[in-house]
Amino acid sequence: MLFPQLIKVNLKTKSFGKVIEYFQKLNSTNKEAFDLINKNKVSSGSIILTDFQYDGKGRNNKKWFSSSGKSITFSLVIEPSFHPKKLSLLSLAVGISIANTIKKLNLNASLKWPNDIFIKDKKCGGILIESKILQNKIKYLIIGIGINVNENEFDSSLQNISTSLFIEKKSPIQRELIIAWILNELELLIKLLNQENSGDIINSWTNLCNHINKKVSFLHNKKTKEGIFKGINNNGEAIIQFDNNEIVLNQTQIFDVFKS
Ligand code: BTN
Repeated sequence: MLFPQLIKVNLKTKSFGKVIEYFQKLNSTNKEAFDLINKNKVSSGSIILTDFQYDGKGRNNKKWFSSSGKSITFSLVIEPSFHPKKLSLLSLAVGISIANTIKKLNLNASLKWPNDIFIKDKKCGGILIESKILQNKIKYLIIGIGINVNENEFDSSLQNISTSLFIEKKSPIQRELIIAWILNELELLIKLLNQENSGDIINSWTNLCNHINKKVSFLHNKKTKEGIFKGINNNGEAIIQFDNNEIVLNQTQIFDVFKS
């Protein structure tokens, strides 16, 4: 059981989270967000939240698994007022807001390109941003956030690569507070996207990234290749040193980057 009111009393935002559509059980908060948008039943800043997401969507058509009553799964719907060229930066900003929130619990969170959230070398959260396009324009962005919070164990297929805040902190975590902290930070970061200079987002992401100057493998022109991850450029795209050249990859061109 989650208590939307407990999220609201911890918000310092102007619009994010002021409306909470809460469901005890849902297939996917991103899917529900699309349905509500199509029925004209959602406004910018609203979140769709569930205590049990049973058919969650991950990136690259993968599934996202969550545990009833233990995970955080929600989608924030926004009407973007920034230029579409800033979309990669938005995705990085969401990662920053989650990593900084986890750091408030004195846990050492880091980010893996483009926006996986890690503690030590295990993943504890992910982000799936989708868009609703009307008349060739992005009308709404659906920012789906999944975090492993109070899980004390994982399925054998996940246990070597996944962790939760509970496992790392060794004490239960109040999920409502985490959601409010993420929304508080994210609203401020998204305001920065409206400004010309996105240096703060680039710097914060770079400081949180756990694989700068490390060897990474990536999918490029349908082939898996290896290079050195050098950082991100002003548009939030990845700079990879490869064959004595630097190539730039955006989040739609690449599948994933693995630490090898
Ligand atoms: C990833 O693959 O790392 C992204 C996972 C994103 C999962 C979240 S949980 C809330 C929202 N609803 C979904 O169905 N997926 C996203």
